[in-house]
Amino acid sequence: MKFICPSILSADFSRLGEEIRIVEDAGADIIHCDIMDGSFVPNISFGAKVIRDVRKITSLPLDVHLMINNADMHIPEFIKAGANFISVHYENNTHLHRTISTIKDAGIKAGVVINPATPVFILEDIISTVDFVLVMSVNPGFGGQKFIEHSYNKIKELKDMIIQLNEDCLIEVDGGVSIHNIADLCNAGADMFVAGSSVFNAVDKTQAITKLKEAVSQF
Ligand code: DX5
Ligand code: ZN
Repeated sequence: MKFICPSILSADFSRLGEEIRIVEDAGADIIHCDIMDGSFVPNISFGAKVIRDVRKITSLPLDVHLMINNADMHIPEFIKAGANFISVHYENNTHLHRTISTIKDAGIKAGVVINPATPVFILEDIISTVDFVLVMSVNPGFGGQKFIEHSYNKIKELKDMIIQLNEDCLIEVDGGVSIHNIADLCNAGADMFVAGSSVFNAVDKTQAITKLKEAVSQF
């Protein structure tokens, strides 16, 4: 099963409810929510209040990607706000095992994120405990960046690790995902596809989702 996850970072925040309804009606599977603190990443997006409000207007699962320092301090607010998936970065979470356990104990899918410069092999001791791994295919912080080609190799390497150590773990890819690379990403082994600008900046957002759904339905 493959999942299309539009990232609301590229949506028009003045019409957020309407934008989410469009992608939901078009067949989006999961809403990806980017939380940025202007410290771990050089941009500030939005916080738990937005998640709480979005929770009221969609029945789709909410996938909360935390690009923040001190994630442990904020995770309870996002759990309470209605997140269904929460992911934290490997690079700034010292006690990753504990953080992942906190998320899972709340009955929420827990994921670890790796930046483009972070190798896959460091996941060896955490992979059996996570529900998904998010492979960043751009440096986190902004929508609309160019896909980093090396990400294919990382996804393939991760897929091999998953087959050996945790068959239930899903692979999510985030950054520069579009109709032009989604088939190759499926072939590499990805299961969840975050798409921000390629959906919300499209002239026809419904068509953008339909095309992405069609592309993954071949796999
Ligand atoms: C980047 C975010 C992404 C972003 C993707 O730091 O994690 O989720 O919204 O945007 P696009 O699809 O435009 O690269
Ligand atoms: Zn993201």
